[in-house]
Amino acid sequence: MAIKVRKLSYGLGASITGVDLRSPLDDATMADVRKAWLDHLVVVFPDQVLTPEQQIAFGKRFGPLDDHQAAPFYRHPEYPEIYLITNHKIGGRPSETKDTGRMWHSDHSFTTRPTMATMLYCREIPSVGGDTMLTNMYMAYESLSDAMKTVLDRLEAVHDVANYHANNPYFRDRDTGQLTEMKKLSPPVAQPVVRVHPETGRKALFVNEGTTTQFVGMTSEESRALLEFLFEHSVRPEFTYRHAWKVNDLLMWDNRCTMHKALADYTHDQPRHMHRLTVLGTPCGRSYEGDTPPR
Ligand code: OGA
Ligand code: MN
Repeated sequence: MAIKVRKLSYGLGASITGVDLRSPLDDATMADVRKAWLDHLVVVFPDQVLTPEQQIAFGKRFGPLDDHQAAPFYRHPEYPEIYLITNHKIGGRPSETKDTGRMWHSDHSFTTRPTMATMLYCREIPSVGGDTMLTNMYMAYESLSDAMKTVLDRLEAVHDVANYHANNPYFRDRDTGQLTEMKKLSPPVAQPVVRVHPETGRKALFVNEGTTTQFVGMTSEESRALLEFLFEHSVRPEFTYRHAWKVNDLLMWDNRCTMHKALADYTHDQPRHMHRLTVLGTPCGRSYEGDTPPR
C-alpha cells in the first residue's frame, strides 16, 4: 500500500493518507510509516474510525505499550493501554485530565523511561479550539551557538512531576490526593539536557517548562535564567506546528525530539474526548537524590 505523506508546517508535522488502520499494515507500509514519523516528528492519520482494540493493535507495531502505572486514575475501564484525556465526568466526578498538558512538556520525562511515542485519537472536539501545539527540539538544539551547545552537551537537569502541578494554574490549588500519589510513584530524576535520539542519532534539547526544575550541580537560582532562555527559545513559532483537531484524527508524536502543549482555547461546556496510548521508550536518565549543598 503506497502511503501519501504531506508536510503540514515548516517546523514539523505531516499527514499520512492512503492507509486504513482498522486492519494490520503490511511490513513494507509499516516501514514507510515509521520513516515518515521519524522524518516529520509528528504525523496525523485523518479519518480513521478505530475501536480501542484497533488503536492498541496499531500502537503495538511501534513497540510495547505503557499501561499507565505512573498515572493510573484515568485508564479506560476495559483497556489499561488507553488513557482518557477528557472533560467528561468520570465516575460522577469532574475529570482532571480535562486540563492535561497545559504547559510545554515531553511525556514522562520525569521518569527514567520516558515514552517513545504518544498516540492521541480524537473522539470529540469543541466546534472551535482544543488545539494542540508541538515543537521541534532538534531545531531548538541545532539553532543554538556552538559555544552554548558545548555547555549544554555536558549538563544534566532535574525533572520533577511535582513542578508541573506547582507551577500550573490549572492544578495549583487543587491537590485531590492524586498529585501526592503521582509524586510517590515518580520521584525526581536527572536527565541529559541534550538527548541523542536512539533511532536517528540526532541531538535534541530535552528540557521543558513543565517538569525541569534546575541543572544538576547548580542551585535553582543559578539555573533559572538559562532554563528560562531555553524554554522560550524552544518554542519559537517557526519550530512549531499547531494541530486543529477533527474527530477521527489519530495524531502520533515522538517524545524524544518534540514537546507539546494543550491550548486552553475553548471552554469545558463543549466536550473534548481523546483516547491516548503511549509506546514505551528506552531507559534515559537516572534517579536523582539531590546535590551536595553549595559552600
Ligand atoms: C497528552 C497531552 C495534549 C492535548 O496526552 O500527553 O499532553 O492536547 N495532551 O490533549
Ligand atoms: Mn502530554
